[in-house]
Amino acid sequence: MKEIGMYIHIPFCAQKCLYCDFCSFSATEEMISKYIDALIKEMKIYEEKLRKCKIKSIFIGGGTPSIISINKMDKIINGIHSNFNLKEDLEFSIESNPGTLNKEKISYYLNHNINRLSIGLQAWQDFLLKKLGRVHNSKEFVRNYLLAREIGFKNINIDIMFALPNQSINHWQETLRNVVTLKPEHISAYSLKIEEGTVFNQLYKKGELHLPDEEKDRKMYHFTIDYLLENGYKHYEISNFAKEGQECIHNKIYWENEEYIGLGLGAHSYLNKIRYSNTTDLKDYIENIDKKNICVHKEEISIKDEIAETMFLGLRMMKGISIKKFTKKFGISPLKVYSNEICDLKEKGLLQVDDQVIRLTRKGIDLSNHVFVAFLLD
Ligand SMILES: C[S@@+](CC[C@H](N)C(=O)[O-])C[C@H]1O[C@@H](n2cnc3c(N)ncnc32)[C@H](O)[C@@H]1O
Ligand code: SF4
Repeated sequence: MKEIGMYIHIPFCAQKCLYCDFCSFSATEEMISKYIDALIKEMKIYEEKLRKCKIKSIFIGGGTPSIISINKMDKIINGIHSNFNLKEDLEFSIESNPGTLNKEKISYYLNHNINRLSIGLQAWQDFLLKKLGRVHNSKEFVRNYLLAREIGFKNINIDIMFALPNQSINHWQETLRNVVTLKPEHISAYSLKIEEGTVFNQLYKKGELHLPDEEKDRKMYHFTIDYLLENGYKHYEISNFAKEGQECIHNKIYWENEEYIGLGLGAHSYLNKIRYSNTTDLKDYIENIDKKNICVHKEEISIKDEIAETMFLGLRMMKGISIKKFTKKFGISPLKVYSNEICDLKEKGLLQVDDQVIRLTRKGIDLSNHVFVAFLLD
């Protein structure tokens, strides 16, 4: 039976953070109820298509899935169980924001197979959290983290960000030190990206955002890699670090270019060599789900596309691309398809290549976007 991943999008947040361009916004309880009804209908649409598939990972992401009440979350969980075949040792993650978790919600998650909790801390210093437009402080984060541990979560991820406005290297080191003290199984550490359409982008254009320069950004990043390695975290993807055996199965599906379906607003799917994406308009999603008309983009992936995607997604992982695995999948070695590109990137010190794998060097990680475009085939 084919094994795939499942992403479920919950687009609701207490308040929009100033840097965020994810499909997320605040909404009334009535809107949330209507959305969940539509989500269950979308599950039913997929039920027949996925009868011959097993779900090996589920990721309820957002937005802020943890703001959903237990009653509403129960509808989603029942929808999952009644429509899909789940693998017994499934990885089941939920994203949460500090201040939204309590004893009842955490117990509910654990009693319903959710075995991985992701908490978005972002920064330790409350003045930075305020600047980001976050609604919580770091005390609330610690309270929620410890509560999740006490009630029984054995697999917790913490999201943090660096290169924030007004963030010094000392602030970042303090964030890392305090996070490591809590011993989470997994840490995602992202360099802040100024995204189009965000408040931060407007401030940036007006010269009102005091961002660290590129050199400071890289210094923070290299410190992260070294410090987390010293503390027992394997750097397994550009922005992701895990204790031995605790890498995120769901995210690896994306980077290894495997199949998944995405349910909900703006969610993406990749199934049977077709990529789909759902509308990002809430009203459109709710009104058109009965007509099964919520897909706004559909693209057949040619072998050429698949080869390029396998390269630039796979290179995000520090283990790199296995030449043997690639050759088995496509009937041709990546060293042949990309002989000139690989030679050039190797000479520039961006790629490390031996007879088994192709991987990014540290310089290659810093210039990863430059490396990835080299693999687009025309
Ligand atoms: C799906 S998002 C949000 C999850 C959750 N709602 C939260 O805010 O913690 C997952 C993570 O992406 C990161 N992120 C969001 N916007 C970003 C940006 N503009 N640049 C870098 N990282 C970002 C944050 O660390 C965030 O926790
Ligand atoms: S809480 Fe998370 S998803 Fe919501 S606006 Fe903030 S960063 Fe975006």
